[in-house]
Amino acid sequence: MSEGARHANSRPQGSRIDPYFDQYAERARGMVASEIRALFAVTARPEIVSLAGGSPYVSALPLDVVGNMAGQLIAERGSVALQYCTAQGDAGLREKICEVMSLEGIRAHPDDVVVTVGSQQALDLITRIFVDPGDVVLAEAPSYVGALGSFSAYQADVVHVAMDDDGLIPEALEEAIQRLTAAGRRIKFLYTVPNHQNPAGVTLLTQRRPRILEICQAAGLLIIEDNPYGLLGFDGDPIRALRADDAEGVVYLGTFSKTFAPGVRVGWAAAPPGIRDKLVLAAESAVLCHSSFSQLVVGDYLATQPWREQVKDFRELYRQRRDAMLDALTAQMPDGCRWTTPAGGFYVWLQLPEGINSKAMLPQAVSSRVAYVPGTGFYADGGGAGHLRLSYCFPPPDRIREGVRRLASVIEAEIDLRATFGAMAPSGRTGPETPGPGDL
Ligand SMILES: Cc1ncc(COP(=O)(O)O)c(C=O)c1O
Repeated sequence: MSEGARHANSRPQGSRIDPYFDQYAERARGMVASEIRALFAVTARPEIVSLAGGSPYVSALPLDVVGNMAGQLIAERGSVALQYCTAQGDAGLREKICEVMSLEGIRAHPDDVVVTVGSQQALDLITRIFVDPGDVVLAEAPSYVGALGSFSAYQADVVHVAMDDDGLIPEALEEAIQRLTAAGRRIKFLYTVPNHQNPAGVTLLTQRRPRILEICQAAGLLIIEDNPYGLLGFDGDPIRALRADDAEGVVYLGTFSKTFAPGVRVGWAAAPPGIRDKLVLAAESAVLCHSSFSQLVVGDYLATQPWREQVKDFRELYRQRRDAMLDALTAQMPDGCRWTTPAGGFYVWLQLPEGINSKAMLPQAVSSRVAYVPGTGFYADGGGAGHLRLSYCFPPPDRIREGVRRLASVIEAEIDLRATFGAMAPSGRTGPETPGPGDL
């Protein structure tokens, strides 16, 4: 048999682009590139002001100091830093993580903590141990795109719960639980980002928190509290975590990605003992153990550097950028736009005038050298087309102002187009022919 014939017979026949297309597990069907991922290639071009990605401004770190610290770590403790460790994570680091969480009122023991590869891995592991295909996960609308990716990878049925400017709405949560329970659905957990939410930039009102806990306790519903931005509030002390008031009913996810550096990929979950044990086993099967080197770098950074001062510097830097964005939005945005006012974190959530579709408008925006993330990326149910997410964490204030100016012109042009052509205007288009960011 010729080489060509043998390949023709033995290779799977899925599609011309991917011969293995038909062979993937059912769960892989839900794995599709997110809006943000598809955008990365375009937004990296220097002429584009990217208000899209949520990359922290790591250049503000004392990079030379961190470099020396990492070098010293290898020179002095390389035999540990370059070795395997336990799947639960370095004990010294877990102790320091408990100190970090105490800033938000959490009293945890290092045994409660499982170190993960960023909080993203914690999301994956939590979903892996809880979700069977078709199980319901309750998630805020809109929700962090990476969480939706994990839920979809394990074939969860995501049911959104409405938020307003004060975060998750307790009545909407109660109603969703009642409706789903009455329909015989299995709800596995509630996923929430209570502080400086990604993408909406809103924070759960303090007065709503006991009610949310009460509703979930009454329903026996676990809460996944994802809190990467909790220490990046612009006003006052950090807000008390949900887990601080219910250690049995809440799994808390934290990360050093926003307060130190995402490149070290160190996050954690603080969980009740049963869940903690399952997470350790799941982590073991996923990665054996996490990077000893990264964990010790973070541990040394917390032990030897003025990290609280650094977090303050980050807060000040992001506050200035937030102000630049809000001022520019107020000065430039046409009537009919509305946006949130974040009290911390990285994001503003902008509502477009009636009828304008953020996904359909994106090619126009990129032609005008500005990028954002269309709201559709943050919904599991096709919602969000009337919104977009703007990040102010990475570009300096003058670039933010320029980006907002460009975006305002694009939205104005869309408004004009709609005034001229009505619902036939391009923004009104939906469906497969609508160009997505992956087409750019
Ligand atoms: C709400 C939320 N959760 C989790 C993550 C994941 O962060 P990491 O895996 O870097 O800790 C992010 C990152 O942007 C986020 O915004």
